[in-house]
Amino acid sequence: MEDFKTIIEPFKIKMVEPIHLSTFEQRKQYLKNANYNTFALDSNKVIIDFLTDSGTSAMSSNQWAGIMQGDESYAGASSWHKMRAAIFDLTGHEFILPTHQGRAGESILYGYLGGMGKIFISNTHFDTTRANIEFSGAEAIDIPCEEGKSPKTYHPFKGNMDVVKLEKLIAEKGAANIAGVILTVTNNSGGGQPVSMENAKAVGVICKKHKINFFLDCCRVAENAYFIKLREKGYENKTYKEIAQEMFSLTDGAVMSAKKDALVNMGGFLSLRNEEMATACKNLLIITEGFETYGGLSGRDMEAIAIGLQEVFEADYLHYRIRSTTFLGERLREMGVPLIWPIGGHAVYIDAKELYSHIPVHEYPGQALVCDLYLTGGIRAVEIGSVMFGKYDEHGKLIPAPMELVRLAIPRRVYTQSHIEYVIEVFEKLLKNKDNSKGVIITEEPKFLRHFTSKFKRIE
Ligand code: F0G
Repeated sequence: MEDFKTIIEPFKIKMVEPIHLSTFEQRKQYLKNANYNTFALDSNKVIIDFLTDSGTSAMSSNQWAGIMQGDESYAGASSWHKMRAAIFDLTGHEFILPTHQGRAGESILYGYLGGMGKIFISNTHFDTTRANIEFSGAEAIDIPCEEGKSPKTYHPFKGNMDVVKLEKLIAEKGAANIAGVILTVTNNSGGGQPVSMENAKAVGVICKKHKINFFLDCCRVAENAYFIKLREKGYENKTYKEIAQEMFSLTDGAVMSAKKDALVNMGGFLSLRNEEMATACKNLLIITEGFETYGGLSGRDMEAIAIGLQEVFEADYLHYRIRSTTFLGERLREMGVPLIWPIGGHAVYIDAKELYSHIPVHEYPGQALVCDLYLTGGIRAVEIGSVMFGKYDEHGKLIPAPMELVRLAIPRRVYTQSHIEYVIEVFEKLLKNKDNSKGVIITEEPKFLRHFTSKFKRIE
């Protein structure tokens, strides 16, 4: 479309879902009942749900039509063949295993390759990826590029991996001990920042030289392709899909949570080039997920994935998607909200350590901001900081995460411009009061993935 200032949603609404509005007083009670963990809130107590962009997409009329055609046969369903063909077309990986979501693929692949003494290296492991690796007994090491660690300075590809460190780590740990190198595109935990093709190629060359498996965590690969076309020389005239295909061509396999860029509410896959690895993974798939032609999916889910994987690469969709996320980020930045710059693909990441500089890290400024966003406007966000990634030393003292971020993850095709205007207004209100905000303490926490179920108390 011509270059208009207003980015319209390239779709119109055929079916609506009510949003339950609430008052400040109600939300105060709801949040207290949820022990200040927004994961514990019922969704009907949330006005704008920015908890995740995962599984929250609105499906198209085409996808819904596909759902009616789902073939629910146990084995060899036509829906599986459609899904398989769409994934093969994209990845070029011969062995494709359907899973019910991303982490099921992670558990199978990294469980098989991992174990005591093994190491995985990534630009940044997503939390479920790290948890699956550590659960197997293996170690997960993050080596984001230096630019990715400084939230404010512009760099077109802050999601890149530090390839100098990668070479050093391989030399130090021994290639035989490295079970896999995982490039997460876009780099979710690092701010939704893209990875350049140049970087992916460099990682691929290093892995090949040392005979190390190179995997793509590709759940936002279309969004990553948008940034490559926009910012990387030589890709201006390629289609988004061609760019994604080129990236897959560098790898030995991929794990995808289809809940993101396949525009569905549930699903995933694991794709591999190596037959022996695929056979071992298939055995685990059958034990844990289901037969190899459906994994954990219904036929209708597989239809929707096959269609979503096409739709996500449409130029008008991707333009609207990335521009509208950027719009929110730019407006917040103009208002003085410190955030990761430039804006990533699926979310705006606020630097809570700076916004709430009066709250010390051990009182979790990110969680405090999450609480305030909910209280002020019913916005549900997620902390990506020391609640999610903090550890304790042997004396029980918090080892904080490198950054204290709060993520506003934007569901795909769900909210309109007026919802976003409302969010901006909520921030205006919140900023007026921010210096009176108090931190939180953790009163209960599990061993793994503590952000999901921890309970908190607000410091008085
Ligand atoms: N990898 C990345 C980069 C992810 O962002 C996620 C999920 C997964 C793997 C796991 O996929 O949820 O289907 O099992 N991210 C969601 C989020 C949960 O909110 O960012 P899953």
